[in-house]
Amino acid sequence: MARKGKVTVVGAGFYGSTTAMRLAEYDVFETVVLTDIVEGKPEGLALDMNQSRPIEGFETKVIGQTTGPNGEGYEAIAGSDVVVITAGLPRKPGMSRMDLIETNARIVRSVAEQIAKHAPDAVVIVVSNPLDEMTALTQLATGFPKHRVLGQAGMLDTARFTNFVAETLKVPVGAVTTLTLGSHGDTMVPVPSRCTVNGQALTDLLPAEKIEELVVRTRNGGAEVVALLKTGSAYYAPSAAAARMAKAVIEDSGAVMPVCAWVDGEFGIAGVYLGVEAEIGRTGVRKVVESALTESEKAGLLEAAEAVRAKQADVQSL
Ligand code: LAC
Repeated sequence: MARKGKVTVVGAGFYGSTTAMRLAEYDVFETVVLTDIVEGKPEGLALDMNQSRPIEGFETKVIGQTTGPNGEGYEAIAGSDVVVITAGLPRKPGMSRMDLIETNARIVRSVAEQIAKHAPDAVVIVVSNPLDEMTALTQLATGFPKHRVLGQAGMLDTARFTNFVAETLKVPVGAVTTLTLGSHGDTMVPVPSRCTVNGQALTDLLPAEKIEELVVRTRNGGAEVVALLKTGSAYYAPSAAAARMAKAVIEDSGAVMPVCAWVDGEFGIAGVYLGVEAEIGRTGVRKVVESALTESEKAGLLEAAEAVRAKQADVQSL
């Protein structure tokens, strides 16, 4: 397939730079733009990534661009097909994602305004925390149609859950299917009815207490990494998730992925950004996929929706 399109990653921290590298290595985009407010950092990382091209065998060109406080440098993102926002502070040990809301809201709002100005047709994938709220804020600040703004969380949470199940049962990760919906936080909703190992129901293979233990570890998956790293938060699994979403957009693949998407009537829930399964393509979210849930899973999803709805209302004033 010929390379096409331009993807921008805003923020050249570990999450952003790893995302940019994965996107470049896919070799499906013409250009990957990496921006940051730290003078020279994105240019240096781009130079380094471009020099890896002969070894890794990809042709995608990486462009690094320092941006200024008044939007200087943002011309570099002009015409982007996809923009991934990683800008913002990560958690410190002991912090919840919600502790970042005020600081990150200011950062994400200013980035969103520049995206609206320079890349008005882009699909925007938000990864900054607290995720569900920053996704809602980005939609407000860009004024983009809701299907063109989505957040990354479910892919990551699901991957963590899958990894824990595979390690527990000593099977390849490829044999395991799991699903988490809801928020990227305390009201993450695991969906045991959709979890299988080689097609067999997870609930037949592990006792309920063990599944619950893995669910709790998944819900705290980000914090567990933060506590070990001591500075910064996870980025290998998060960047893999964000990059796959951007790839699904440019390839217009129609892949169904758990993402943070605008829900408008599905599952009897309306008017909120929430973790659900969605079909991803060139227009962003093509549609929310409403699968069958058990009564308790549905109740969990409703509870998550109300929790994030309250917080998302708050971000309008941030
Ligand atoms: C995590 C952060 C990136 O879950 O939200 O690791």
